[in-house]
Amino acid sequence: MKNPADSKQIDFNDEDSNTSLNPAFDSVLATRLSRRGLLRGGVGTAGTALLGGLAVVGCGGGSDGVSFPVLPPAPAPAPAPAPAPQPPTEKLLGFGAVAKSLADVVSVPAGYSFSVIYALGDPLTSGAPAYKNDGTDTAFENRAGDHHDGMEWFGLDANGKLSLTATDRGVLAVNHEATTNESLSSFFLHANGGTSTLPRPAAEVDKEIAIHGISVVEVAKTSGKWATVAGSNFNFRLTPLSDIEITGPARGSSLLVTKYSTDGTRTRGTLNNCGTGKTPWGTFLTGEENWFGYFTRAAADDAARADKSVVALKRYGSSQGGASRHGWESAGPEDRYARWNISKTGALTDGSDDYRNELNGMGYIVEVNPLDKTKTARKRTALGRFAHESAAFGKPTVGQPLVVYMGDDARNEYMYKFVSTALWAAADADATDRLAVGDKYLNDGKLYAAKFNADGTGTWLELSFANAAVSGYAGYAFANQADVAVHSRIAGDAVGATKMDRPEWGGVNPANGEIYQTLTNNSNRRLEPSGSSQVALDAANPRAYTDMKGATSQPGNPNGHLLRMKEGSAGGSATTFTWDIYLFGAEAGADKGLVNISSLTADQDFSSPDGLVFSPATGICWIQTDDGAYTDVTNCMMLAALPGKVGDGAAKTLSYTKADTSKLDVLTQVGKAPTPDTLKRFLVGPVGCELTGFCETPDGKAIFVNIQHPGETTSQANLADPSKYTSRWPSNAGYGAGSRPRSATIVITKNDGGRIGS
Ligand code: FEO
Ligand code: CA
Ligand code: CA
Ligand code: CA
Repeated sequence: MKNPADSKQIDFNDEDSNTSLNPAFDSVLATRLSRRGLLRGGVGTAGTALLGGLAVVGCGGGSDGVSFPVLPPAPAPAPAPAPAPQPPTEKLLGFGAVAKSLADVVSVPAGYSFSVIYALGDPLTSGAPAYKNDGTDTAFENRAGDHHDGMEWFGLDANGKLSLTATDRGVLAVNHEATTNESLSSFFLHANGGTSTLPRPAAEVDKEIAIHGISVVEVAKTSGKWATVAGSNFNFRLTPLSDIEITGPARGSSLLVTKYSTDGTRTRGTLNNCGTGKTPWGTFLTGEENWFGYFTRAAADDAARADKSVVALKRYGSSQGGASRHGWESAGPEDRYARWNISKTGALTDGSDDYRNELNGMGYIVEVNPLDKTKTARKRTALGRFAHESAAFGKPTVGQPLVVYMGDDARNEYMYKFVSTALWAAADADATDRLAVGDKYLNDGKLYAAKFNADGTGTWLELSFANAAVSGYAGYAFANQADVAVHSRIAGDAVGATKMDRPEWGGVNPANGEIYQTLTNNSNRRLEPSGSSQVALDAANPRAYTDMKGATSQPGNPNGHLLRMKEGSAGGSATTFTWDIYLFGAEAGADKGLVNISSLTADQDFSSPDGLVFSPATGICWIQTDDGAYTDVTNCMMLAALPGKVGDGAAKTLSYTKADTSKLDVLTQVGKAPTPDTLKRFLVGPVGCELTGFCETPDGKAIFVNIQHPGETTSQANLADPSKYTSRWPSNAGYGAGSRPRSATIVITKNDGGRIGS
């Protein structure tokens, strides 16, 4: 999603509706003893909090291009017998770090190559014409969508069946999160930039709706070169108009009754698809993130409703009178437009004559069979409703529940996990009806939100109607478990979960099962909070400082951090855990006491971690950024990490000085600082993009990565003058027609045929 720092107007990508009294004092501050009973640290710089120092600008310099040879030098011609071939010696993170850069290119380490294979508008069917990229293209239902985001690989064998070992043929399931817009219009999609006032023309809106959702595209390697297979029978799209089934506790709930589904069992479409997951039974999970902003509600809708739905709508970012992101509701009276206005207009009490409940149909993890486009996708309401990012499975153990870790990406929202009721049976990994396996594991279980204690422990708090804290919550009268599933954020408020610095992707370390979570940034974290939206420091979100971007002050936690957790002895179904902070994002030159706490060097420094995926092949933890804070120095990037484990560092006291010169000590737990061998920048993207989505072939020798919204910072007023686009990627990399920037998938390989990251 777009980082708020780069937003041009209302930020539909980062709502901030959590005014619950939750976190704070018990979870925090003051003194906290480390788990080892030691009080180390105290490094607290006295004096003023902060100030990111000047960063080291590595563009054009640094160690870019330094490579660690993994193959022995070619033997010189000699009369003596040639030496026997030696196997390559692999050293993970043996590549030369890529320097920070503001260039409009994709930079990868020496010895690596990338190619663009799948960009916005590329044809998925044989009937779709080539993308002209001039705003005249139509029929996006048959093309790649926009803003490529999370992505998963599903290998194909020679018979077109799912293969866990195929390395040269598969499908990519790709999220298409959103579209670049300055005001209402997705201006790169329209010849003249489109209509920025209401009403929006239906022809423009039809295109904008169709570029959202997901795509599935076959990819194959032929003669060493990867490409999509246009016209493959595997290719398909889901859009915000696709019919989707509601499953789990909210299926059939009165909360989901609409004119489209009078029994509350179906909904139309999936929207703002961001993070992803891959189930142990070979299906694709897509997370619906910032869906709330696409809908509008009339100025007097609160009074028209006069029920608890008003509380729920506000908690999910929908205020009466608020404008929608694109004005799609204005394009005509037809249902496909009218449904974007969720005002109560009907006379019936159950909502079956209008779209007052339409917002409740969005905000889920959706399961898709990527190898069978005839199967209706299923929204898994048991996994809660919020601004979903990824869905990361714990390692499946036969006879144990399955566990899914998830984050809610908005300021001051929560981390969640789902524990299935059904126990894992290995035979389910290769079932004929894969979505039926999803029904078995993902429709019934326990949903929890995380609370981080100041002593380095934490608790999973159950979001259940059977939990008195939920059913007796004064802030909202829950009716049943369906209500809890649809309003899991409010249930999180009720149980006192910890407000986090925007939980984005999570991942599970295959080496030890520990859970990693990116916390991208939080402009509302404060040493001295005021108002209902700012929140105090706590042990798990312990930084507030001011970073400068030119003359602009960026307060809060502008660079974000990565937290990790180790489940208690019960494993995935444990209700307690321990945790520490793996890495703090920061500029390398920033103060090491309160800002660059992980002592990042110029080869490692980053801001706003977002994507996070552990490679199943190499175990490398890949970290991707979606940043707006450090973008005066570098474009967004991807780093490779070899992390340690929870507790490998030490407790640390962050000693802050308030405005009145009084002190505030915040104790936190900091993981062992990275070394040049355990954290290294691997890639820097073109201007204005974020890096997101990561998947690979099972041998680890090809990775697929998405470049989302290059040129997002282009002004709509400059549409007619390509020289003023902030990015012209990927056309400037030789891919495709026109010069309008396009989100795209790239594939990266190593020139010596080795595994990626070595
Ligand atoms: Fe779509 Fe929170 O990233
Ligand atoms: Ca973004
Ligand atoms: Ca800065
Ligand atoms: Ca994201």
